Amino acid sequence: MSQRTFTIVKPDSVEKGNLGKILARLEAEGFKILGLKRLHMSTSQAQGFYAVHRERPFFGDLVKYMTSGPVVAAALERADAVPHLRKVMGATDPAKADAGTIRKEFGESIERNAIHGSDSPENAAIEIGFFFSTSELL
Ligand code: RTP
Ligand code: MG
Repeated sequence: MSQRTFTIVKPDSVEKGNLGKILARLEAEGFKILGLKRLHMSTSQAQGFYAVHRERPFFGDLVKYMTSGPVVAAALERADAVPHLRKVMGATDPAKADAGTIRKEFGESIERNAIHGSDSPENAAIEIGFFFSTSELL
């Protein structure tokens, strides 16, 4: 069944000119792009987006990294979109990611790991709502 998920092409990817390659890979995987937005996240936006991690030791660094430059947010649709995107992204640490995954190919470190993907359909809906209004999803 068709499902939605949410991705952010992270600052390291945009900075290195990997945005087009990553979007092309997602399209090749059968994801339809319902919404697409380039933005520079504010500190409070990044803190809100990653609020589940606020007690983690890496939270401050994560917020600094996510606000270090422009990102591209996208709402995606496909069958089994949430698990499929997680599979195509690969493990959080690019060094541990499977060959052929986006993080293996484009990630630099456990922090600068190229791409975000929602971890559940419920969080996907919340995250899409964080960046897009209904009229921007076509
Ligand atoms: P994401 O939410 O961005 O899709 O990544 P994920 O599910 O694979 O990993 P998660 O545990 O949710 O962590 C969110 C992001 O925080 C940074 N991180 N840094 N320094 C560290 O040990 C560390 N651990 C995580 C990464 O940018 C990670 O994607
Ligand atoms: Mg996560």
